[in-house]
This record gives sequence, structure tokens and C-alpha cells, in this order.
Amino acid sequence: MCGIVGYIGFREAWPIVLKGLKRLEYRGYDSAGIALIDHENLNIYKKAGKVKELEDFAADKNLSGTIGMGHTRWATHGAPSDRNSHPHTSQKGNLSIIHNGIIENYSTLKEELISRGHSFSSDTDTEVLIHLIEDIYQNNNIDLTEAVRLALNEVTGAYAIVIMDEENPNQLIAARKGSPMVIGVGQGEYFIASDATPIVEYTKNVIYLNDNEIAFLKRDELEIKRLDNVVQTPYIQELELKLEMLEKGGYEHFMLKEIYEQPRSIRDCMRGRIYPEEGQVQLGGIKEFADKLKNIDRIIIVACGTSWHAGLVGEYLIEEYARIPVEVEYASEFRYRNPIITEKDVVIAISQSGETADTMAAIEMAKEKGATIFGICNVVGASIPRITHAGVYTHAGPEIGVASTKAFTAQVTVLTLMAFYMAQQKGTLTSSKLRELLTELDCIPEKIQTALLSNDLIQEISSKIKDARNCLFLGRGSGFPVALEGALKLKEISYIHAEGYPAAEMKHGPIALIDEEMPVVFIATKNSSYEKVISNIQEVKARKGKVIAIVTEGDTEVKKMADYCIEIPDASEAFLPLLATIPLQLLSYHIAVMRGCNVDQPRNLAKSVTVE
Ligand code: F6R
Repeated sequence: MCGIVGYIGFREAWPIVLKGLKRLEYRGYDSAGIALIDHENLNIYKKAGKVKELEDFAADKNLSGTIGMGHTRWATHGAPSDRNSHPHTSQKGNLSIIHNGIIENYSTLKEELISRGHSFSSDTDTEVLIHLIEDIYQNNNIDLTEAVRLALNEVTGAYAIVIMDEENPNQLIAARKGSPMVIGVGQGEYFIASDATPIVEYTKNVIYLNDNEIAFLKRDELEIKRLDNVVQTPYIQELELKLEMLEKGGYEHFMLKEIYEQPRSIRDCMRGRIYPEEGQVQLGGIKEFADKLKNIDRIIIVACGTSWHAGLVGEYLIEEYARIPVEVEYASEFRYRNPIITEKDVVIAISQSGETADTMAAIEMAKEKGATIFGICNVVGASIPRITHAGVYTHAGPEIGVASTKAFTAQVTVLTLMAFYMAQQKGTLTSSKLRELLTELDCIPEKIQTALLSNDLIQEISSKIKDARNCLFLGRGSGFPVALEGALKLKEISYIHAEGYPAAEMKHGPIALIDEEMPVVFIATKNSSYEKVISNIQEVKARKGKVIAIVTEGDTEVKKMADYCIEIPDASEAFLPLLATIPLQLLSYHIAVMRGCNVDQPRNLAKSVTVE
């Protein structure tokens, strides 16, 4: 949540920072702001609304300067408004700050600062931090870098910050604790950003700042210190990210592009991990725990939102194939209970962004209680992969649409691989069965390609139900998490109220909602619960509900009852979630477009939820 960008070097900073903010806009789009130093003048432009509004607002202003920083905000403290937009400045006005995260003790600090004569012009916690730095700087005979370090030792909470000083136009100061920050290393220039996307077109050499580290950047000099004043040796890594991954590539929206990327992203996710002919799965990331997996008592999956839905699919797969009991927990609930966790438990944390605050807190808690933690993460180098004992990256590539699509199917793919890997260690699957399953899994990308061919039909169906006020999604077995995910996708991008339910639960309450106005989407593919789902469809039809069914190709039974059917290729039950999700993503997408919604940036949401 909130995106930050900084630049110091020999080029004009404005275009670099502005473009960087556009790339980071998925992290929040309540307001945007940029600060630049032109010779010795600090110029700050900020505006409520999207980065485009800031761009238009600043078009006729002085945009010169080879040092600058910018921020795109997802509001936490203080409503989205010009005055609450970042950058914020100190009392004297020479120091300026951008911040991603939350300063938890800001109100105590604010009171103290007010009693020392400070006055504030925003409602934000961020402004308090820059005033605190200024206060320490002015009242002690120290340089600014030391004042920043001392101030950060006084704050609690999470932050990624960048600071500029009008009186020292040759320096940027950056620090992180709990919020991501990447430094791009160029020749005579440095870049700073919340993730590597604003940096990749200028340099492939990056440093991922660690928690409790402060970086002091001059045009040709970088020093990193820990908050306890110990100097660190920077570790420069090469980025794997490619620029074209960040473009829409001819699609109208990132979400549509990402839906269509799934045959490729799932293939990338499996690459080097499955060996169908040998009936082998190899997961290098968790290899050192292979023996442990033979004797674990249970697995607890923690995640939020769409990643939690992937966890529910994982529960089904791991219990089915590896015969290990699995519990799936909302990270936000789990962390505040006092759950029973032992050293024989494995916790799997799933997160696209690798930054979700609740998931991180759940990991820390389970770690303290002695569990082994595996991560399933998409963003390489994010915080979660750093705090887990081992893990498997999903390799779906950058997901820019705020509504998760390809990351979900990649998470499900990794969970499928983990279930097979665990089964392999425990011997709960014969090698011939594993060979058969892996051979089928290997064909899933092509089957997804086939599922995407229903796009025109789905668009037509979307036009029939786009004005609905409510919508139900029903499924059984592993079709249930697919129903939950379908409902979440629809509500978050089209603002239609939607609920996912196990199909059999419908008669225990939701059936009361059904009338001729209510679209009901069924996952009605040919699997072990097919006959039961048919009965549920009849119950809906008897009450005049409008049925949209996801069916296996060639189905004739459901077609007799449903108003609309969308076919997906036939597959074993294990792979149903990967295929049945595709038409639901397209359905939400088209409905949202037809309703005129901002598909890639739905209201109030942000891609990486770094607040609890
Ligand atoms: C919905 C969506 C969210 C995320 C959730 C967790 O489309 O994207 O529900 O799944 O915020 O985010 P990560 O996976 O980054 O931990």
C-alpha cells in the first residue's frame, strides 16, 4: 500500500519519478505527490486523485531538478485530500518526506512535538515523523543522517521512507522496516522504489534494503547502516524482471492481459519442477525439509483474500494426495488467537505480494512457537520470502491488475506441486499414479488456452446479467473455493454484491434470496459431486433463479436445465480449480467493463495490503 519512488543522478528527476508512480499506482491511488530540488529550491506538487491528475496539475510548473521523490497514496491516517497527500514537510519546510506504512505511536509523538512548538498541516502520521527528525536535528549537534537514525529508533510501526533536504540537494536518505524498498544502482545515479518496476528500464542492478536499514545516497556514493549504527555491505543482485512484463501489450486492461497470460504463467510455474516421465516432482525451495515432511502432524495454511481461496484448494489437494491434515486460516484471525502450534507443524503462508501485514504477523507468531514456515510468493525478494524458512516462488510475473488472476492460478499450481511432492515423500501416491497425474498437469496450460476460447460467449452472458444487484456462486468439493474466488472477483471489480457458498449449504439460508432476478453461477463440472450439483441446480430453477453453469465439454445433463452453460475441457478433479476459475475471471471482467468500472484499479482497494 502506497508506492514510493526516488531518484538522484544526472537526469531530470520529474519524468523518472512520474513514470515510476504510474507503475506503482496499483499500490494505492487516493492521491499522488512529487518533490524536486531545483538548485536550492524545494518544489512540491501534490494532488488528491490519480497520478494523471498530478501530472495535469503540475504541467505548467517548474519541474527541473536531478533529485526528486514521489508518492502514490492509499489513505490510512487522514482522508484522501491535497493536504494529506505526500510529500510532507518539516516545520521549517526544508525537510521533506514520503512514507509507506504506519507510525503507530504517532499521536504520542505529535503531542510531545506540539508541546515543543510544532504545528501540523495534515492529519497524517508521516508529517509527525519528519517533524520528529527535524526536532532531533535542530536540538542536537549532529548531521541529518544521524538525526534520521535516532528518530527511527523512537518510532514503532512500519515504514519505507525517503527524505530530501533542501539545504543538501546532493543526498537522499531512505529507510525501511516492514515495508518494501529496492534501490537501483546506476552509473552516477541511484533509484529507489517500493518494488523494482519503476527501476527496471534504467538498471538491472538492485539492492533490496533489509528491515532496520537506512541508506544514504549521493550521486556516486551509497552507504547502508542498521538502526543500531552498524555499517552494512550492500548486496547487489541482478533483476530478472523484463520491461514488457509491465506493459499492457495491446490489451485494454492489465487484468485481461493477465487472464490471457495464464497458459504461460502456469507453464513457467511448473518449469523445472515436474518430470512426468519419471513420475517426479522437484521443489528445490523446500528440498531441505523433504525428510521432515514424512513426519509432520499437520499443515496450517495462512493467507488473506484470493490467496486464502488458493489455500482452500491446497487443503483439498494435500489431504487427498499426501494424507496430511490441513487447516486453512485467515491470517488476520489466526494472528490474534492463541492457536496451538507445535514444532511438528508446517505453516504455509501464501501471498502474491509477499508484503501482506496480517500474513507476515501470522508467520512471525508461528515461527516463535517453533513451526517450520514455507512461503508461496510471487514477488521475488519481497518480505515474506525473507522471513520464511523455505518456499516456492510462483513465477507468474508481475501482476498489475489489482484483482488477482494469474497469481491465483499460479498459487494453486504450486499447491498442487506441493501436494504431489509431499505424497512422493510419504509414499501415499504410487509412482504410476503420480506419473499419470503429472502427465495430465503438464497439459493444463493447453487446456486453459482452450477455456479462454469461450471469451465471446462469456461476454454475451455478461451482457445478460450485468445489471444484477446480487449474485450467488455455488460449488462443491474443490469447486467451493472456486465459487468463493468467483464471487470475490465479481464484487471487487463490478461492485455487485456476490457470495460464494458450498452448493449444499444453499438450502440452509441463501435459497431465500433466489428469484428471477438472481443469477446463480454453478461449478457443475463432471466430478464426484456432479449428480449432487445437478440437484442443487434444480432447486434453483424451481425458484426461477437464472443459472449460469461451468460445465465439462460435451455435457448434456446440465445444459437441459441451465440458462447458460460455459464449457471447460475435461480434467481430473485435482485440476478442476485451475480450469473452472478461468471463465469466472472473464465473467467478472466483462461485467465490470460493461458497468463502466475501473477494472484495474477498483475503488478503495490496493494491491499490497501492508496495514492490518
Ligand atoms: C483479490 C486480491 C486480494 C489479495 C489479498 C492478499 O483479488 O487480490 O484479496 O489476494 O489482499 O494479498 P497477497 O496475496 O498479496 O498477500
